[in-house]
Amino acid sequence: MPDKSDLIEQAQKVMRRNDRGHYTVPTHGLYPFQWNWDSALSALGFSHFDEARAWAEIETLFAHQWDDGMVPHIIFHEHDEGYFPGPDVWDTGRGVPTTGITQPPVAGFAVRRLFERAKDRNSAETKARALLPKIHAWHEWFLRCRDPMNSGLAAVIHPWETGRDNSVDWDRAFERVPTEGVAPFTRRDTQHANPDHRPTDEQYKRYIWLVQHFRKLDWDNTRLHDASPFQVVDPGFNAILLRSCLDLAELAKRLGEPDIAKRSRTIAEDGIAAMERLWSEKYGQYLCLDRVTGQLIDSPSIGGILAAFTSIPTDRANALVRRVETLAQSCTYLVPSHDPTKPEFDGLRYWRGPVWLIVNYMIADGLERAGHRGTAERIMADCLRLIEKSGFAEYYGPITAEGCGGDSFTWTAAMVIEILNTHEVLA
Ligand code: DGY
Repeated sequence: MPDKSDLIEQAQKVMRRNDRGHYTVPTHGLYPFQWNWDSALSALGFSHFDEARAWAEIETLFAHQWDDGMVPHIIFHEHDEGYFPGPDVWDTGRGVPTTGITQPPVAGFAVRRLFERAKDRNSAETKARALLPKIHAWHEWFLRCRDPMNSGLAAVIHPWETGRDNSVDWDRAFERVPTEGVAPFTRRDTQHANPDHRPTDEQYKRYIWLVQHFRKLDWDNTRLHDASPFQVVDPGFNAILLRSCLDLAELAKRLGEPDIAKRSRTIAEDGIAAMERLWSEKYGQYLCLDRVTGQLIDSPSIGGILAAFTSIPTDRANALVRRVETLAQSCTYLVPSHDPTKPEFDGLRYWRGPVWLIVNYMIADGLERAGHRGTAERIMADCLRLIEKSGFAEYYGPITAEGCGGDSFTWTAAMVIEILNTHEVLA
């Protein structure tokens, strides 16, 4: 294992290389703009060596929040021909163009961390106070626009919103998304990364069909949910939302904003209770719910394990630890994004098998909070073993440790900095 300070130095170099001043790109070439949850998680990395820069990452993100509260999944700060679908395909009509969908709302969690560890207390308080109502408005937006039936949980209406673009979880629901009428396009991602590690062309057509469909509805979020043939309740996504609500409640309490604190806690409590509907005894983990059919989706993916990130009941957390232990028997590195014993598992293809450090970090954090320190440490140690073998890749084969997708990846580097700075035991 390389020296801790060497690793931190290498990781900082990756982050600096992808730093565009007030935002970072996930990696050069493949992702040349600002991505939502990438930024929030990358801010955690910055917070250990450049506090002001960490806050700037999140402030830039929220400077592009929509009037209805949504925070978009990509902000196209600069023109770049090397990415598809670019701003003209989304056509959301904004000054600085953005996409019209969102991404996992992890900013509330990140901002609480930034606030608690800040050395510059005055600046942190000013910044957190300014971000608090914006993050809260985003959380309220989820309930208003992505949970119109008040179930307590938000649906995603495009796989890109989950961040887990081509997960096995979406395969069945995606059959309802047509491909007729999709304008011809040229993919750019497969020019930057190995096509065998990326989603298929068939999936891309459906991704674009949904974009065209929402564009025809003028990106009106009061209409998109009901009009989408794809409405999925993802336990991982909701766990991120509910954890962020819990963290925002705590932050609001400290900043003397009792109304936001109370409302955030209520959203979290209602949501955590509603997550019981997603529990599967068969798999001993949570599953996605297809809101169109009303059925749980028979796909034991990492989405149902990421649920550990929020405050789930003790027996559920215990079961998820057992689930992780079972997965460890069929792979070398935890946590695979899909169960390696299932026929759909594809070890190097994006979210159909590979390990992602950001998800590992969130699962480990949740399990540690629930008292499962040993499992959390095993997961974090695996992150470092992967880095040692294959550098700062986008994702990794859970059996081979092969580095996949883009390289010199910002949030991978950020997670290494975060883990090494917060867990002495691994040093
Ligand atoms: C991509 O372009 O692959 C992204 O995951 C979409 O956000």
